[in-house]
Amino acid sequence: MQIFVTGASGWIGSAVVEELVANGHSVLGLARSAESAAKVKALGAEVLPGDLDDLAALRSGAGQAEAVIHLANKHDWGNPAESDRAERAAVQAMLDVLAGTGRAFMVANGLSGLVEGRPALETDASPAIGPDADRGGSENLVLGYAEKGVHSLAIRFAPSVHGAGDWGFVNFLTQAARERGVSGYLGDGSAQWSAVHRRDAARLVRLGIEKAPAGARLHAVAEQAVSTRDIANAIADSLDLPVTSIAPENATEHFGFVGSFFADTMTGSNDRTRALLSWKPLGPGLLEDIRMGAYRS
Ligand SMILES: NC(=O)c1ccc[n+]([C@@H]2O[C@H](COP(=O)([O-])OP(=O)(O)OC[C@H]3O[C@@H](n4cnc5c(N)ncnc54)[C@H](OP(=O)(O)O)[C@@H]3O)[C@@H](O)[C@H]2O)c1
Repeated sequence: MQIFVTGASGWIGSAVVEELVANGHSVLGLARSAESAAKVKALGAEVLPGDLDDLAALRSGAGQAEAVIHLANKHDWGNPAESDRAERAAVQAMLDVLAGTGRAFMVANGLSGLVEGRPALETDASPAIGPDADRGGSENLVLGYAEKGVHSLAIRFAPSVHGAGDWGFVNFLTQAARERGVSGYLGDGSAQWSAVHRRDAARLVRLGIEKAPAGARLHAVAEQAVSTRDIANAIADSLDLPVTSIAPENATEHFGFVGSFFADTMTGSNDRTRALLSWKPLGPGLLEDIRMGAYRS
């Protein structure tokens, strides 16, 4: 397939491009800078220069492809409303092109805020609806196009898509530990996160775009629940540092922006995803990955 990938230079996107190319697909990757373009090219993809706000470029990419995987996000943590606005506008622009074609569109999401008090299921619809919702309500926007001739798919990534070179949340936790000389968890550390290795996530994206039925929500979750205390312990072991509880009122001071959600449980089931696509995560698991040194340098 000819597949247009936004976020092709990103942490997950670059692994997805490698996985697609290795499995015989042609990839057109969006890149907003010369540096990102070089990275995407080196992965074996063609480059479409463009920014998330360049809706003409997004329409062009979607128009040239048999399938679209949308992984780009501004991740403007200081101004999430702007990230959400841009996300919705970008998604809408690409859906307008794909409507009525039967082509696939996969949108990325996370596991946060889906349900309270239990792991999210693939059957749980996101409560984020409309342009002012989290991520611009883009998951529901996309899935609604299953009735408008788009092979719509959503993929929800675990809050830790981990591996060597990760610049995401576990990397920030590790940096905080290094800077403070102690690895922290919040409160009693009982909050739990799901996790998936980056290569397993990339394989799931490929299987999903190749085989998942329209309307599917996929959970890129290999381990359903890893306690945040265990994450802190693994970081401590990896860096040979002590471990300690951090009081909730000191969360942001100690961890930076990750402190605002390190005490949140963000978990999802993966039973339906595994059964649907015969996807078997190969690991390593998050704690093993940290202890083996993925975050040491
Ligand atoms: N990683 C995780 O643990 C995780 C967990 C849950 C959900 N997710 C979601 O999964 C998706 C991929 O995440 P990721 O970890 O791969 O993110 P990432 O590493 O931050 O990559 C983001 C990608 O978006 C591109 N991008 C950012 N702003 C852009 C703009 N204005 N115009 C065009 N492209 C832009 C980046 O391009 P540059 O390379 O040029 O910066 C990069 O390719 C996102 O939707 C994310 O929210 C990730």
